[in-house]
Amino acid sequence: MIEPHGGLLINRLVSGEKAAVLEAEARALPVIQLNPFEVSDLEMLAIGAFSPLEGYMTSADYTRVINDKRLANGLPWTLPITLAVSKEKAESLKHASCAALADASGALLAVLEIHDVFHYDREAESVAVFRTANSDHPGARYVASRGDWIIGGPVEVFRRPNSEAHPKYRLDPADTRRIFVERGWNTVVGFQTRNPVHRAHEYIQKAALEIVDGLLLHPIAGETKSDDISLDVRLRCYEVLLENYYPHDRALLALNPASMRYAGPREAIFHALIRKNFGCTHFIVGRDHAGVGNYYGPYDAQKIFSEFEVGELGITPLFFEHTFYCRKCAGMASEKTCGHGKESRVMLSGTQVRNVLREGGQLPPEFTRPEVAAVLHQAFNQQQLQQGAAC
Ligand code: ADX
Repeated sequence: MIEPHGGLLINRLVSGEKAAVLEAEARALPVIQLNPFEVSDLEMLAIGAFSPLEGYMTSADYTRVINDKRLANGLPWTLPITLAVSKEKAESLKHASCAALADASGALLAVLEIHDVFHYDREAESVAVFRTANSDHPGARYVASRGDWIIGGPVEVFRRPNSEAHPKYRLDPADTRRIFVERGWNTVVGFQTRNPVHRAHEYIQKAALEIVDGLLLHPIAGETKSDDISLDVRLRCYEVLLENYYPHDRALLALNPASMRYAGPREAIFHALIRKNFGCTHFIVGRDHAGVGNYYGPYDAQKIFSEFEVGELGITPLFFEHTFYCRKCAGMASEKTCGHGKESRVMLSGTQVRNVLREGGQLPPEFTRPEVAAVLHQAFNQQQLQQGAAC
């Protein structure tokens, strides 16, 4: 079994009597209210998906991640995991040793040991991470909306966030690792996704499955931008796809509780390290991975892997070129495998799927399996009905 990043699978969840004691302590502490994005980071920290991180970053880790794509100890890590607060809140916490963390409803979730309180430059962070501070970029817009002070330190989580949503698919790194062993999978490819599954996704997943033992289908379950398709619908798409088109014993569907950053290349490395923590040995990086608009080149998320020494990341990326349906080949292909002209190609992307649905069009079988299209059309019609009723 592949080692987690840093060698040790972190677990910051406490249960039983210890959880009760911690919760009682939390009630006497100053409270920091987390937004849903920070709650999803808390869940990732709790279950070890962000191993070796034990909490929100202190300035040593934060600065090195922004400047060097590494943690202070030199391990590759490309995105900040931070808890941002206003200046007033930061000042009120300067002399506190601990704080309680609550979700948006005020429910207490965790205790944070305060190791660091520091100011940061939000614009500089966005330029380093997203290559832009433009508010058209959803990640940069989110960073600009946050406080400009950071509270860093380890967390202990006594109430697991989101534990009731989709319990069947909420498998922690310890669970997926155990399942891979039970199934005898020595090599497992992880697939990151935030979009409803289309034929290009299926093609690259199956191409990868030709060379490894198993596939971890790992859709994002945290925050995504408002026009992305809901998790419920994306999961139903996967359920019908798996039922009709995949060998049952070679693929595992589970949630990645992380939120999308839309950080393209930096997020591709981050996504790979997370999947390594879940036990994957390989990771798929296709065209414009974790991209948005035209902020990144179509293969920048692949090129960034060459900035790290072989073996430093500890997970093998599998790169795929832009994949399309070719009418002349009567199948999926890429520039590498098809010599026909552009006129015979049906180009596929999540954006195109959303556009067809929005315009009331039908998703053709070259684009999406009919069973998946049916789920999407039904969900879209329901949404239209609900919007109509609300008018
Ligand atoms: S992402 O934001 O999670 O990257 P999406 O769910 O659309 O978006 O993509 C999941 C994975 O499939 C990513 O690795 C992406 O690069 C890859 N991908 C999506 N569409 C294509 C395509 N047409 N050709 C090749 N790779 C693709």
